[in-house]
Amino acid sequence: MSDMNISYLDQSDAVKARFDKLKQREVILEVKGLGKTYESHQGPVSALQDINFKTHRREFVCVIGPSGCGKSTLIRILAGLESHNAGEVLLDGKPVNGPGRDRGMVFQGYTLFPWLTVKKNVMFGLEVNDAGRNEAESQARQWLELVGLSKFADHYPHQLSGGMKQRVAIARALANQPRILLMDEPFGALDAQTRARMQSHLLEIWKNIDITILFITHDLDEAIFLADRILVLKAHPGEVQELIEVPVPRPRSAMQITSPEFRATKARLEALIHPPAEQPEHDEEAITPKVIRLTDVADNVE
Ligand SMILES: Nc1ncnc2c1ncn2[C@@H]1O[C@H](COP(=O)(O)OP(=O)(O)O)[C@@H](O)[C@H]1O
Ligand SMILES: [Mg+2]
Repeated sequence: MSDMNISYLDQSDAVKARFDKLKQREVILEVKGLGKTYESHQGPVSALQDINFKTHRREFVCVIGPSGCGKSTLIRILAGLESHNAGEVLLDGKPVNGPGRDRGMVFQGYTLFPWLTVKKNVMFGLEVNDAGRNEAESQARQWLELVGLSKFADHYPHQLSGGMKQRVAIARALANQPRILLMDEPFGALDAQTRARMQSHLLEIWKNIDITILFITHDLDEAIFLADRILVLKAHPGEVQELIEVPVPRPRSAMQITSPEFRATKARLEALIHPPAEQPEHDEEAITPKVIRLTDVADNVE
């Protein structure tokens, strides 16, 4: 193929200009020397070690890495739901030491209140924060419109598909107007088609409002499709391997998956996440697959 020589580091002028502008924007989130060790019966487990990165305003950062590398630990620390042992997390320059409405969360599991309607679910955070009832209701309607669910305002969560539930979760998280949206594999439980639709939908929402997004996934295509930059973690302990600037231009479309930039980025991610397995030296069976003949009519006719 003609694109074989293209590197994920090659950026078109437009992409380069976009990154230059992005890096001039204010820093929303700064993670400095972050470390986390869990105490377990087998002794201490180092989940994260010396994590450093910055996220700029309206940036879309994806975090990928093998299972168990500390992705959920990282996002829970950022959300203020988990403590850390080293370093610090700064949101708008202020240390994060607990949960706060300046951060919105969307998880993989459906976390809507089943006894509340869609609209009431979105209003929930608004009401507890003392916005007037009418004001909260009109705001909730606006957020539901943004996620395309106006018609379902009075439905209950069990009447919605998985994708629709996650849209309500996104509306609910955004309704409090957080500085950053933290998403931990939010589309992981959805079928492939719904997942692709939700990815496009999320980009559409992101384009229309002033929000910075930190999105965890282990799906490489999803990370490339969504992100400005991808933070690649490695396991045991979770450390930053690389922070990749995605060279795929915006606006993104599903067609780009076959583009040279997309493929070069994916090849790089694959090399980082799934390094080629070492061949066992003395295990013939692992190298030469056995050919098992099940039926072969031609051979049986003698
Ligand atoms: N509450 C806990 N107690 C002890 N070890 C934990 C706890 N939560 C996570 N871990 C360990 O920390 C590491 C990172 O876990 P996690 O952040 O869930 O990874 P990921 O989300 O990337 O799969 C794993 O080795 C996991 O077993
Ligand atoms: Mg996880």
